[in-house]
Amino acid sequence: MQATAKAHTNIALIKYWGKRNESLILPTNNSLSLTLDGFYTETTVHFSEYLEKDRFFLDNKKVVGVPLNRVTSFLDLVRSLAGKENLFAEIRSVNKVPTAAGFASSASGFAALAAASSRALNLNLNEQELSRLTRQGSGSACRSVYGGFAEWQQGSQLDGADSYAVQIASEDHWDVRMAALVLSAEEKDVSSREGMKRTVDTSPFFEGWVNSIPADLKTIKEGISSRDFTKVGEVTEANCLKMHATTLGATPPFTYWHHSTLLVMQAIQSMRKKGIPAYFTIDAGPNVKVLYLPEFEDIIKNELQALPGVKDVVLSRAGKGITYK
Ligand code: DP6
Repeated sequence: MQATAKAHTNIALIKYWGKRNESLILPTNNSLSLTLDGFYTETTVHFSEYLEKDRFFLDNKKVVGVPLNRVTSFLDLVRSLAGKENLFAEIRSVNKVPTAAGFASSASGFAALAAASSRALNLNLNEQELSRLTRQGSGSACRSVYGGFAEWQQGSQLDGADSYAVQIASEDHWDVRMAALVLSAEEKDVSSREGMKRTVDTSPFFEGWVNSIPADLKTIKEGISSRDFTKVGEVTEANCLKMHATTLGATPPFTYWHHSTLLVMQAIQSMRKKGIPAYFTIDAGPNVKVLYLPEFEDIIKNELQALPGVKDVVLSRAGKGITYK
């Protein structure tokens, strides 16, 4: 009763921002992402009759408290699907993601956990079923089941049966790349979970955000299918700015941006004026990700590394979906 799975993180180009059901993790809008090959989690789950509770090791360190509880609650779902409520597990994960710096470690983490634990209990899930299960660990993780571009369809059913991700185009469809800029590796003040709840509950801009999504999705899907970089880049950047605008309208207001975040955003806009095509996106943290094409990789890397406040630049291609060992 053991399995090992590897999942890559994904970065949303059209963001998931807002839940309609917090316990089932059902979103208020569809989102669309690119899976990255540079960041991943590899997890082994070993269920054993000799264990009296779950134990979780991340990068060989024992994890306790809230992160362990999140893993245990998720495994409870898997155990109940398999009818093995009394079986506990040892979970060992290795993360190649700067945790809690806005690099969506929860996405690769829960996708790998869902895949390894469901396989260890012989659940035989197809990708759709696996994505639906993964969603209940962390929403954005449901997109990491797939390589390339994936869309999380919000669904309309109350129980979440139709809320899962589907692949829009595989990692081989188009060689677009993403640079992840590390500006700060500090833990963020407002988690994405808390931030989106505060926005849904209090921000007058939230309704405008939700209403703008269908048009953004239509544009980005056309852009992906015709490999139109300008179209995809422009809508990615605009969608990110809209998401972050909602947080400024919340009570109390907040922003994920640091001083260096804004400097990088402006630098990317000036790069475009110089004829270097690059577009940014930002998640629930200060770090910036930059979408670019391979022919501009060297120049973009040099420009980004030279910016003030940039501690590291990690380049990624489109990554694969879940793989098993
Ligand atoms: C800004 O998936 O971390 O990265 O579902 O509460 O676990 P929970 O939230 P999470 O939120 C990610 C938000 C985002 C945008 C995105 O990835 O779509």
